[in-house]
Amino acid sequence: MPPLYTFGDMRTAIRTRLRPMVEADIPQVLDIERESFPSPWPQTAYKRELTNKIARYFVLAEVRDDEGAPPPAGSPGIWASVRRALGATEPVPTSEYLLGFVGVWLMVNEAHIVTIAVREEHRRMGVGERLLLAAIELATDLDQEAVTLEVRASNEGAQRMYEKYAFNRMGLRKRYYTDNNEDAVIMTTPDLFTAGYKKLVGELRARHQERHPDLWP
Ligand SMILES: CC(C)(COP(=O)(O)OP(=O)(O)OC[C@H]1O[C@@H](n2cnc3c(N)ncnc32)[C@H](O)[C@@H]1OP(=O)(O)O)[C@@H](O)C(=O)NCCC(=O)NCCS
Repeated sequence: MPPLYTFGDMRTAIRTRLRPMVEADIPQVLDIERESFPSPWPQTAYKRELTNKIARYFVLAEVRDDEGAPPPAGSPGIWASVRRALGATEPVPTSEYLLGFVGVWLMVNEAHIVTIAVREEHRRMGVGERLLLAAIELATDLDQEAVTLEVRASNEGAQRMYEKYAFNRMGLRKRYYTDNNEDAVIMTTPDLFTAGYKKLVGELRARHQERHPDLWP
């Protein structure tokens, strides 16, 4: 049962779904980028990335539907017949608000997380971890051996998240970030298919589902 939030006198069901990023998401992705990174990617970079064969991008979207909400004033019959005419069996999503996104490049044997960000007002609520789990599960499904990434040396919050998933510090790329010449820390998971790592991810996933049921289907 999705949680119910109250907006004025309207009760609206809110749930989230993880899905592939599409071009229409780019304006919201850029909003999240701007509040997350000192040198955000331009819109053209995202358009290009969505057709990059080795790239996979996902968003976690808050889906607000008309379940529990009143139909548009004065037109319940019309609304129902429009939905029936469209062949709707599920509530029709009327808007999706993005909470965060993750981008992964599938290299030869490794999945490289090239970007991950959560809307500032939704941080520390499990969204980043949900996206990281999606990246790890994608890599596992596609038989990649490990997940790897670079993170700013000063970005302690993100490093804590990766350490929670047993990413090891493999080394530094000196002065990797050209905006401030900051070093990047290279962090990589153990082999995804070892029994120990599969067990860790399974346990963390189960704990996350228990703590944040609204972020799972
Ligand atoms: C890094 C980021 C994606 C984390 O997302 P989030 O939704 O806030 O993270 P979660 O709430 O899912 O936290 C998951 C775990 O990460 C760690 N963590 C996340 N943010 C942290 C912080 N600010 N300080 C310490 N630990 C933190 C914790 O271990 C947490 O687990 P817990 O809830 O059991 O304590 C988010 O802070 C962000 O978008 N930052 C800006 C962009 C960025 O830095 N991206 C990473 C580039 S490499």
